[in-house]
Amino acid sequence: MTIQNELTPHQIVGELDRYIIGQHEAKKSVAIALRNRWRRLNASAEMRDEIMPNNIIMIGPTGVGKTEIARRLAKLSGAPFVKVEATKFTEVGYVGRDVDSMIRDLCDIAINMVREEHSSSVQEKAVQRAEDRILDILIPPAPVVLSKVPVITTPGFEMQQGQPAAQVGAASIDDHVLRTRTRDKFRKKLRDGDLDEREIEIEVSSDQSPMLQVFGPMGMEEMGVNMQDIFGNLGGKKSKKRRVPVAEAREILTQAEAQKLIDMDKVTKQALERVQQSGIVFIDEIDKVATRGGAGKSGPDVSREGVQRDLLPIVEGSSVNTKYGMVKTDHILFIASGAFHIAKPSDLIPELQGRFPIRVELDSLTEEDFYKILTVPQNALLKQYKALLESEGVDVEFTDEAVREVAHMAAAVNEDVENIGARRLHTILTTLLEDILFDVPDAMRDDHFLVDRDLVLSKLAEVVENRDLSQYIL
Ligand SMILES: Nc1ncnc2c1ncn2[C@@H]1O[C@H](COP(=O)(O)OP(=O)(O)OP(=O)(O)O)[C@@H](O)[C@H]1O
Ligand SMILES: [Mg+2]
Repeated sequence: MTIQNELTPHQIVGELDRYIIGQHEAKKSVAIALRNRWRRLNASAEMRDEIMPNNIIMIGPTGVGKTEIARRLAKLSGAPFVKVEATKFTEVGYVGRDVDSMIRDLCDIAINMVREEHSSSVQEKAVQRAEDRILDILIPPAPVVLSKVPVITTPGFEMQQGQPAAQVGAASIDDHVLRTRTRDKFRKKLRDGDLDEREIEIEVSSDQSPMLQVFGPMGMEEMGVNMQDIFGNLGGKKSKKRRVPVAEAREILTQAEAQKLIDMDKVTKQALERVQQSGIVFIDEIDKVATRGGAGKSGPDVSREGVQRDLLPIVEGSSVNTKYGMVKTDHILFIASGAFHIAKPSDLIPELQGRFPIRVELDSLTEEDFYKILTVPQNALLKQYKALLESEGVDVEFTDEAVREVAHMAAAVNEDVENIGARRLHTILTTLLEDILFDVPDAMRDDHFLVDRDLVLSKLAEVVENRDLSQYIL
């Protein structure tokens, strides 16, 4: 088995660079960790089991890109990836999610992923079958005229070809030829999309409809039991008839046929394998479950430390029971992240610290970083606003000095009020652009709008300089 993605560490950093400014150390660490998965899978079989993943803790102030790095890594890793918040978990026995559920979520994700892949490999066949089903509805297959003499037929026999000619009237043979011809004509029309608008009645099995959602009682989750599986199958698979346009019917039926063609046992097996060999779990806000000092432990702290203790076996390597089967967590990569403002990594229980041997610190963002964040990444904020206004036919342009000024203000407010990292840029830009976003298209009819330094100053200087105001507005 190989991980689809075989980016080298440099390439991984290069990909991350397209979205995240700076934070080179963190990018480097995750790139190495990701590549090590691939290296391990290509090592000799005996060594493979010995090589353990090196789990990582990313430490850094709020809003500097920790979660963003994880999110981007997920996209480009091609491995099953789940992001969880440590604060969502509680010790077993408390109300909340138990830590095992992160592995179950990971399995769900892997199953979907593998099923998607399988479904694209059977796509062609499914499309064909769906087409046949639609044609069957449009032109029902020729009814077979049997002789008056009662014959014992086995189910399905009537459909068989090559029946004794004596039993089929001459007229019906012509009929048959005609029908085949009509069918071919319709097939062509169908493919050309000529029939897309026409309505037909199809049978859809209701278990496909996402309307039915059954929530299990708390605690059922631990058993890895899906209530939907239990109740969904009560009384068998219900199907109901629906009238839909052919275009939609084609989609529904293709999907249904694809489901039938997929071998779910194989999907499950592959998915579990993938989880165990290349799964990645990102645990955000790990600092929030770190307890400070030994004294005065009470209230929620008990549960927090419990969460850490529950995490240990999973991070270390154990078997978790999921509804798809047992999953071994030994080679799953864990990346934890936290601001560690109040608690320090050393406030985590020692065993857990040992499970995360690699520490990377992310840097606070500077004015220069802000300038780049505004302009460089593919999803840079200014590009986002430009795209928003473009949809109204307005071309908004920011002068370089204006962008520098925004970056400068963001850095200043972060320093004066509170450092919220790059999130500051969001608040500043919305304040700056509020009027134009409101006035387009009603009150502003120009199709070009220039944001220069003067405009930035006139809109924001007062707010930025007045600490009380900026506390509320920015
Ligand atoms: N270095 C960066 N380059 C580009 N964008 C960034 C960077 N840092 C943060 N951002 C942007 O700022 C926003 C917040 O970043 P992110 O969610 O990664 O913060 P975080 O470090 O996880 O903070 P927290 O500790 O509060 O969870 C995101 O929209 C992200 O795109
Ligand atoms: Mg975060």
